Amino acid sequence: LPLYGLHNFKQWHGDKQFPKIVVLTDDNTSMYCLPILTSHTEFPFDEIRLLPGEKSKTIENAAFIWNQLLEMEADRNTLLVNLGGGMICDIGGFCAAAFKRGIRFINIPTTLLAMVDAAIGGKTGVNLGHFKNQVGLFIPADEVIIDPVFLDTLPKRELIAGYAEVLKCGLIYDIKLWDILKNKHPEDIKDWTAVIEKCTSIKQEVVKIDPKEKGLRKILNFGHTIGHAIESFSLENDDVPLLHGEAVAIGMIAEAWLSWKKAGLSKEALDEIISCISRIFPGYEVQKPAIDDLIHYIIKDKKNVSGEIRLVLLEKIGKAVYDIKCSLEEIEEALDYYYSLK
Ligand SMILES: NC(=O)c1ccc[n+]([C@@H]2O[C@H](COP(=O)([O-])OP(=O)(O)OC[C@H]3O[C@@H](n4cnc5c(N)ncnc54)[C@H](O)[C@@H]3O)[C@@H](O)[C@H]2O)c1
Repeated sequence: LPLYGLHNFKQWHGDKQFPKIVVLTDDNTSMYCLPILTSHTEFPFDEIRLLPGEKSKTIENAAFIWNQLLEMEADRNTLLVNLGGGMICDIGGFCAAAFKRGIRFINIPTTLLAMVDAAIGGKTGVNLGHFKNQVGLFIPADEVIIDPVFLDTLPKRELIAGYAEVLKCGLIYDIKLWDILKNKHPEDIKDWTAVIEKCTSIKQEVVKIDPKEKGLRKILNFGHTIGHAIESFSLENDDVPLLHGEAVAIGMIAEAWLSWKKAGLSKEALDEIISCISRIFPGYEVQKPAIDDLIHYIIKDKKNVSGEIRLVLLEKIGKAVYDIKCSLEEIEEALDYYYSLK
């Protein structure tokens, strides 16, 4: 299980006596989070800093990190500390796994999304052009240290976006969690610890059964087939692109509608899901993609089998099913449904 509380970092790295520690940050986590980490624990370190945002999760930046590590004379005993959101955890884990055939790394997630999702479960990687997560490895962090203190400086928009993955946990696995979350608003939650612990334990339970996503783990992708396509389209076309969690929220609405159409989700449950998600995620001023704009993203989705689109859908709230074949026409209908809500 992850360790809760930053005080754990001191003991964790102290026990292991790393000759060198490198902290990977982006401009924001360098400014807001690094001082919090170092005020808990003084330790000698080098820093590698990236520009913030999804656009930094590139193979070019991976090469930049490897070059920086070389310049810092990092060796196989170096520890990489990924201090940031999902972007930093994903690229940092990937770089650590490949540098000199693998150095140790830990994730200290600083966004809600990374605390409940990206920092745990061992998926690492980078985007290729506009295609998300096309190159990467399954490799668990040596440790994950979670402390909600970082959420104090997280912009509201990012906090709310992270809530999409929190809602997803309830929808796919735990109706009791959903019932607690569905009437709340993320900005009103003062103590995040219980919610984060619940979501991480769901993710870990699923990942433990199916670490390499051959079966059950696919359920964690609910909302993501359509969500990733919309996210990629938005990154390419919008001046202020959608955040990952915002795109997943749209994807969950569209895929909940498909669940009602194809997987036995009741109309009542569909209405409940739509009303909760649209309350927290009102419409965005983004261009509506035509299905032709999304096809090439959807086809590249890693859950497809032999070119056929396979979705994760909900049989009921708290129970997801995976590998459900779906046509492009059905996806188009689902998107029309989402845009008709506005
Ligand atoms: N590996 C996985 O299993 C997995 C799961 C879900 C998502 N992801 C990936 O995670 C990424 C999205 O992660 P994210 O939403 O955390 O985005 P992010 O890492 O880009 O962080 C969002 C923004 O918040 C800023 N920030 C981070 N922590 C802060 C803090 N405490 N205070 C102030 N600002 C802070 C960052 O600088 C950035 O501008 C996507 O690339 C997605 O593909 C990976």
